[in-house]
Amino acid sequence: MHDIIKQLEAKREQARLGGGQKRINAQHGKGKLTARERIELLLDDGSFEEWDMFVEHRCTDFGMANESVPGDGVVTGYGMINGRLTFVYSQDFTVFGGSLSEAHAEKICKVMDQAMKVGAPVIGLNDSGGARIQEGVASLGGYAEIFQRNVSASGVIPQISLIMGPSAGGAVYSPALTDFIFMVKDSSYMFVTGPEVVKTVTHEEVTAEELGGAMTHSTKSGVCDRAFENDVEAILMLRRFFNYLPLSNKEKPPVRKGADTAERLDYSLDTLVPDNANKPYDMHELITKTVDDGDFFEIQPDYAKNIIIGFARIEGQTVGIVANQPLVLAGCLDIKSSIKAARFVRFCDAFNIPVVTFVDVPGFMPGTSQEYGGIIKHGAKLLYAYAECTVPKITVITRKAYGGAYDVMASKHLRGDVNFAWPSAEIAVMGPKGAVEIIFREEKGDPTKLAEREAEYKAKFANPFVAGRRGYIDDVIMPHETRKRVARSLAMLKDKDIENPWRKHGNIPL
Ligand code: HXC
Repeated sequence: MHDIIKQLEAKREQARLGGGQKRINAQHGKGKLTARERIELLLDDGSFEEWDMFVEHRCTDFGMANESVPGDGVVTGYGMINGRLTFVYSQDFTVFGGSLSEAHAEKICKVMDQAMKVGAPVIGLNDSGGARIQEGVASLGGYAEIFQRNVSASGVIPQISLIMGPSAGGAVYSPALTDFIFMVKDSSYMFVTGPEVVKTVTHEEVTAEELGGAMTHSTKSGVCDRAFENDVEAILMLRRFFNYLPLSNKEKPPVRKGADTAERLDYSLDTLVPDNANKPYDMHELITKTVDDGDFFEIQPDYAKNIIIGFARIEGQTVGIVANQPLVLAGCLDIKSSIKAARFVRFCDAFNIPVVTFVDVPGFMPGTSQEYGGIIKHGAKLLYAYAECTVPKITVITRKAYGGAYDVMASKHLRGDVNFAWPSAEIAVMGPKGAVEIIFREEKGDPTKLAEREAEYKAKFANPFVAGRRGYIDDVIMPHETRKRVARSLAMLKDKDIENPWRKHGNIPL
């Protein structure tokens, strides 16, 4: 017995040391934490229950028979974040570069399976050289086992990936199948084929950072949802982010009440929309002045900035915010912003998070690049997402709601539950200038006449009352009471319960 305990301690010690002190020092030298240090920081003190510390790989080729480390390059288990359960795996770059062997994959699959059984999120801390080269196809099989579980868990439990080192080749597809990807600046990168292959195939010379670093994926590709300065910031922000989410699709998100009251008025909002309809303003101001304590966790803040998405709370309840941003491309919907918002709305819908939409949209972006790029299909994604969404939907039109974009942005017709407009709202097929140039084409040579027509059109349609008369708008509200009215609507909708017709799955225009 005594011997076994000694052996146990020795094995634990060996596992904790991963690839050894030299490699741990190298990891620290790169400004990175180790797999265990990351878990320690992520989970509540002393809450980590580790599994499979003694698992070792089974490879005997290429001298691997004598090269084994207990745990095999990934630390797995479960623990608490602010008292709420999560499963976690953290790849250990000090052990064979965090590469994925068959055994390493089995460990990840085990926590994913258990997370599905009990209904709790899976957080993956990725830091890996990809498939364990010595194991060949066994490693590829391991990846595919993980992919299958990612897909089975999609929409059932939240899945979050934090990329904290390399993620290359087919290995990128596990994070890609999860709900959110966060990255650490300068020390993480993701690409399907690395710089060397790119050079051979396309003759482009590009660094790993340019090809797949955090800035690339958070500004250019949209693969990354948030980029953080270092491991510590990333993990602390992940803890904060976790607080917005329910543990599974069977639960509502947690309620975390702050100091803010639901009745709070904000008179500064009455002057947010400029008198000149062509002048932009920052929609962030409306968001932060509406939600609890001005606290907004933005997703993809540096990508497709013409639409803003993110999580906040109202009366302590998590809400998903979607808002056109007049500061960028006048708030037009284009391919990137449609995809960005559609995916977000679908996440909220899957996990019982009400969606609050702030609308100031002059329409879909015109032009050949948009049409050739398939704006028809991509714009339809957002339309589809809002239309299939059954969680409470509250919409506030602050200014423009023109054309098809009016319909798309959580309009009454797409089962918007409560649709408000500010007095400055203009709900019409298009802006007054464009409208009269089409209807009164024959008067084009007469600017005075055209200006009169424009004023006439504006008086008739560029207001919230035409839509209000038809009940497409439930009320015209003063900007300063937006929080109060949204909060009351959310409280009224607390037990909303509608279902879409049965089907295997819909066919969203992908
Ligand atoms: C086995 C690996 C490994 C791998 C790294 N190591 N990647 N061992 N399989 N895939 C080992 C190294 O031999 C080294 O061991 C240690 O990890 C650290 O690696 P370094 O190269 O010293 O580190 P660094 O300079 O930081 O470079 C990191 C790296 C590089 C860029 C990730 O190691 C690399 O290019 N590795 C190979 C990447 C790759 O081709 N993977 C397969 C991709 S295909 P020692 O003992 O010296 O410490 C793939 C397909 C998945 O993943 C398909 C899924 C469908």
